[in-house]
Amino acid sequence: VPPPPPAPPRFTGAKLVDDRDHPWRPLRNGDIRGPCPGLNTLASHGYLPRDGVASPSDIIKAVQEGFNMETQTARFATYSAHILEGNLVTDLLSIGGKTSRTGPNPPPPATVAGISNHGSFEGDASLTRIDAFFGNHVAFNQPLFDQFVDFSNRFGNGFYNYTVGGELRFHRIQQSIETNPQFRIRGFRHFTAYAEAAFTANLFVDGRKTGADAHQLDMDSARSFFRDMRFPRGFFRPSSPTAGEGADIIFAAHPTQPGTNVGAVNNFVVDTSMGGLTDPCTFYVQFVNTTVRALYPNPTGVLRRNLIINLGFLYDSFAPPDCPQVFPYGQN
Ligand code: HEM
Ligand code: MG
Repeated sequence: VPPPPPAPPRFTGAKLVDDRDHPWRPLRNGDIRGPCPGLNTLASHGYLPRDGVASPSDIIKAVQEGFNMETQTARFATYSAHILEGNLVTDLLSIGGKTSRTGPNPPPPATVAGISNHGSFEGDASLTRIDAFFGNHVAFNQPLFDQFVDFSNRFGNGFYNYTVGGELRFHRIQQSIETNPQFRIRGFRHFTAYAEAAFTANLFVDGRKTGADAHQLDMDSARSFFRDMRFPRGFFRPSSPTAGEGADIIFAAHPTQPGTNVGAVNNFVVDTSMGGLTDPCTFYVQFVNTTVRALYPNPTGVLRRNLIINLGFLYDSFAPPDCPQVFPYGQN
């Protein structure tokens, strides 16, 4: 039976996380990394298994310990990823591509392809990764990082902050509308695109920075996380639990709607059917009733039981206002 989510740590202040017990090590043959600079860094420092395959509990503990990620967000991100692309029977998830190390696969259409799989959690208009339409959507992309630096220089005096996030998040969406005929930012992705732009200013900034220095990410540190999957030397995690704070500011700079390019560039059609950042209840209900049911139309046995349990953990972590839980597989 999948265990309940681990509680937050008792101490939630700033502390050295680039410590003796968690040395950075380069990748060994077969170690898996993916599109998330946070999880990549935790694996390369041994907060997560260094091979890149972990249980949801491992991931929740690691993001709380290593980055002081706020517990509800940690659970929501982890259980959504696990339900979409993890193995619900073995309770293992790859932080990158598909691997036999997560155990025997359930029947298709389930994918169990790891968080790199395009179109489920991973999506378009990432800040430092190209859209899957153009090639490798998982690897760090230097030209996009150059653009990240350029925006940080122009709008943040050399630092990435919410103001820079507001400009760059919007610009990346416009770039994809103009160049990617298969561009898609609906439902879950419309939500995570803004959350991740906020994580960058909240979780990657040393916890000893306060006042005017808070939420200001310098470019050496940004490169260290996004490219090298490494804490800046002597990094302290944030001084209190944090996650998506500021996403509202980033969104308000240039509000967007969920949608897709239909068949051609510059042909963006708004599609609110899957919800989005400003409609979390639709997004939750559609996530469960459309996206998850498409992967698991008819689960039985342990698979069905574990789906029910993980969907419960997901709802408990999110519970949008006035949005009752949905039970596509019954309640027990
Ligand atoms: C991106 C998963 C925690 C920071 C992503 C992506 C995935 C993901 C699948 C790719 C989305 C895309 O850009 O296409 C997760 C899961 C987490 C988690 C399951 C479990 C709690 C974290 C933490 C941080 C973080 C703790 C920061 C310390 C980011 C950032 C991006 C990202 C900044 C955007 C990268 C970019 O746009 O280039 N995450 N993540 N994530 N994640 Fe995570
Ligand atoms: Mg992406």
